[in-house]
Amino acid sequence: MRTDYVIHTPAEIEKIRVAARKAAEARERICALVRSGMTTWDLDELAGEVIRSLGGVPTFLNYRGYPGNICISLNDEVVHGIRSRERFILKGDVVSIDVGVTFEGGIGDNAKTVYVGDGDMPEDISRLLKFTESALEAGLAAARPGGYVQDISRAIEMEAKRGRLGIVEEFVGHGCGTRLHEPPDVPNYTQHRKGPCLRPGMVLAIEPMLNLGSKRVYMESDGWTVRTRDGEPSAHFEHMLLITETGTEVLTRV
Ligand code: MF3
Ligand code: CO
Repeated sequence: MRTDYVIHTPAEIEKIRVAARKAAEARERICALVRSGMTTWDLDELAGEVIRSLGGVPTFLNYRGYPGNICISLNDEVVHGIRSRERFILKGDVVSIDVGVTFEGGIGDNAKTVYVGDGDMPEDISRLLKFTESALEAGLAAARPGGYVQDISRAIEMEAKRGRLGIVEEFVGHGCGTRLHEPPDVPNYTQHRKGPCLRPGMVLAIEPMLNLGSKRVYMESDGWTVRTRDGEPSAHFEHMLLITETGTEVLTRV
């Protein structure tokens, strides 16, 4: 794991702030477009239009060869699901939407999981979504200047355990801002090391990926899609957090 970190300049932070706000706006608009009966290809096309209508560029498109505007991960897919003309979104699906927006040198990265249905959510799905979101909120709340990355990891882990959810270990949060992935890593579970000290000017993408069943995941043959081994559904929520002199600021709230 990398132990270094990036401190952004005030000028960079202004750009990151704008891109993050656009990413949050895009996330909400795209989630509102999710309907049963549409394919993930259709949704990805609409997502591209939403991002461009905000003046942004889809950050993930062609990133290390990624073939889509956004990531759409259904049910047992954890992250990095790829658009497909054959993949229909159906009632009862758990849909994770991960959106990156690049705008004038700044990058916004955020994610949210929604349930496709009409208020008839099964109890276990409700627990999955509720605790993945509260784990993210706990991670955000645990960060303070002078603290450590580990404070965030520990808070996420505690909340995930309270919800009896499996914590994916192979993928982690990350520094973000002028590149999509910057140091440091932000794991969703406690490690022995404290990680870097949280300093003003650091921007972190905090993103718990939690499973209803076991933590075990595998990579599909497409080289992108990550799935749970036991086939149980997974959820993913992500926000970007700026560390300031006096506290923290979530950059991707609408
Ligand atoms: N939020 C995801 C991440 O931080 C999005 C990356 S998807 C990729 O890893 F396609 F761009 F790799
Ligand atoms: Co991310």
